[in-house]
Amino acid sequence: MNRVYIKTYGCQMNERDSEAVASMLRGRGYSIVDSEVDADVVLLNTCSVRDQAEQKAIGKAGRLQRDKRRNKLQLLGVMGCMAQNRGRDLLASLPDLDLVVGTQKFHQVPDHLDNLLASLKGLGPRPSTIIDLEAEAGSQNTIRGHGAERKVTAFVSIMQGCNMKCAYCIVPKTRGEERARPMEDIVEEVRELAANGTKEITLLGQIVNHYGKREFPTVGGKSPFVQLLEKVHAVDGIERIRFTSPHPVGFRQDLVEAYRDLPKLCEYIHFPMQSGSDRILRAMRRPYSREKFLRIVEALRQANPAMYFSTDVIVGFPGETDEDFAQTVTLFDEVKFDMAFIFKYSVRSGTEAEEMGDTIAKEIKEARNQVLLERLEQWSTARNEALIGTVQEVLVEGPARKGEGMFMGKNRGNRKVLFPGNARQVGELVPVRIDRATTTVLLGESV
Ligand code: 5AD
Ligand code: SF4
Repeated sequence: MNRVYIKTYGCQMNERDSEAVASMLRGRGYSIVDSEVDADVVLLNTCSVRDQAEQKAIGKAGRLQRDKRRNKLQLLGVMGCMAQNRGRDLLASLPDLDLVVGTQKFHQVPDHLDNLLASLKGLGPRPSTIIDLEAEAGSQNTIRGHGAERKVTAFVSIMQGCNMKCAYCIVPKTRGEERARPMEDIVEEVRELAANGTKEITLLGQIVNHYGKREFPTVGGKSPFVQLLEKVHAVDGIERIRFTSPHPVGFRQDLVEAYRDLPKLCEYIHFPMQSGSDRILRAMRRPYSREKFLRIVEALRQANPAMYFSTDVIVGFPGETDEDFAQTVTLFDEVKFDMAFIFKYSVRSGTEAEEMGDTIAKEIKEARNQVLLERLEQWSTARNEALIGTVQEVLVEGPARKGEGMFMGKNRGNRKVLFPGNARQVGELVPVRIDRATTTVLLGESV
């Protein structure tokens, strides 16, 4: 009765929350399994950022509810953003749910499962399905994301919530007010990870460069986030640092210089632009201009010419004209992104943009999406092909999915690299000469 499968939708923050729940459950004697077929308990960690993500999880929960009715499953729970945002509706439409846990109460999942399982055995009262959804700031910051198993790369949460008011975005509602985790806690977690063999960490927050703005002072012109980067950089054993996501607002010179001065900070940045039209940026309540965005990109390229850029773009925001979209395309072309996530606008109820309606036809959103995808493919392929003949430093993560003696790792630019290797190389930085490239993968031999 104690095999748990956790399925995660959405962003890296969710992946990290799922990892944290998994590690707490392991600590209680549960075993975490890789498939719902082998599980007694299924927990869905959900995402609300777009309708599609919600529909996927709702569909899944419906199918699992049927499994439960056929006794193939003991317990079914929904966690995370959708639970936070519309937990009560969920329970109304999926009455067999056993557990609804918002974004502030992940730490209560183990107790709750213990109680639920005890009640199934007749050893106690059945606990309420919904764990208090009223956000209680900061409570979740105390849980650590990791257990005893070694991970070559790990996510570390540095803050929760978001104080921006992007008109389209549900996150401030699902994740609450911005609040920082204490710097020393974060550094301690990184030290423990390093002691356990972790080589690469990704610092996670909705807007990492706003980290600790209210809690900690600027010292010597360095923001709390840059101070944190320096402290993490000083941890022995950590070879690579990444973070996601920064915001153009409050992206200052100290952070640009970190890319010049901190060798462990990988020259790859996920830098959401959302739109290239100043008019649309204003309507989105993204308080920066395309010029400002470009200036930061240029400053970063100056700090490190090898910089890789990734971004998020929304197409079809209400009122986006052909002219607005053309502006997005030119900004996209100017930066030549190596990677991008392109989203078709999706109305979220309770956001400011909800009132603007959904004015752009589906076909137009699709066409705009295609235009950007084609360009992305072009830039990404070009960047990969330019690496043929070079030797890339690859942090080896494990055997490649296809197997056959192939191993998978990433270069500093977050590009996937495949090469014939061996298990001893896992967790090592291995030089690989690249001899083939596709849009998404580099292939080569270790040298
Ligand atoms: N519709 C489409 N995309 C959205 N995003 C956030 N909210 C919406 C929405 N309502 C995108 C943004 C953000 C990414 C995580 O998801 O681009 O950066
Ligand atoms: Fe949402 Fe904007 Fe905050 Fe990002 S910065 S989480 S898009 S409100």
